[in-house]
Amino acid sequence: MVNNHQAVTVRELSKVYVGRQGSVEALREATLDVPSGSFVSLVGPSGCGKSTLLKIIGGLITKTAGTVLVDGREVTGPQSGVGIMFQTPVLFPWRTILQNLLLPTEVYGLKKEDYVDKCLKLLDMTGLSQFSKAYPRELSGGMQQRAALCRVLAYDPELLLLDEPFGALDEFTRERMNLEVLRMWHLNNPAIVFVTHNVGEAVFLSDTVCVMTPCPGCVAKIIEIDLPRPREVTLMKTRRYADYVFEIREILGV
Ligand SMILES: Nc1ncnc2c1ncn2[C@@H]1O[C@H](COP(=O)(O)OP(=O)(O)O)[C@@H](O)[C@H]1O
Ligand SMILES: [Mg+2]
Repeated sequence: MVNNHQAVTVRELSKVYVGRQGSVEALREATLDVPSGSFVSLVGPSGCGKSTLLKIIGGLITKTAGTVLVDGREVTGPQSGVGIMFQTPVLFPWRTILQNLLLPTEVYGLKKEDYVDKCLKLLDMTGLSQFSKAYPRELSGGMQQRAALCRVLAYDPELLLLDEPFGALDEFTRERMNLEVLRMWHLNNPAIVFVTHNVGEAVFLSDTVCVMTPCPGCVAKIIEIDLPRPREVTLMKTRRYADYVFEIREILGV
């Protein structure tokens, strides 16, 4: 999966939020590589700067110092080819699911007809085919998040930024959604940066886990996860999996 081309390069990235209450140092000299096609997780406690790092990579907020390249180019704002998903699905309640999936065509000025079949296929693949004409309120939280995932995948992102995408879902649904993400990832193979505070989830999903600590906002260690793919849930019962989880928990002191 992994090659030498870098989807994301982060060097000595720092971020200080300046507000009326004073300033908050959210990231301090963070350094990270995301090879194209690889799955990288950012794991660490709440407030350690994970979302800040992800938003800077996505061009949603500005950095204070350091270098961030996406596909070899300096990030100056939101980029085409980068899909971003947050904890809440952000579906418009007055639009049907299919209309929500087609929304980016309006934002990016793409031809809607070119994407209808693809969106319907993705809904079918994720078990939502009968909901294309339903409204978001008619779907469970997990289904809404699956629809939001279809929406980012429909536009073939080379880089997918996922910020605790299933954090609001129950454990069983979250596990199923994670398997769904892996299945989609194997099909299209975008690079993925996945933010989570769940150590087990990070190990299960990733090629590389970037362990962050509130020092503040430091990358404490980068760990390559040498476990076979495709990953099955039974992997979580193995010694090697448990060893990785233990190693990361030691670093985090939890
Ligand atoms: N817009 C903002 N203004 C000021 N401080 C912020 C802002 N966003 C985040 N922070 C602060 O920056 C730090 C890192 O936040 P964040 O990146 O959201 O962490 P995480 O995603 O790991 O929970 C926290 O101390 C948080 O309070
Ligand atoms: Mg966050």
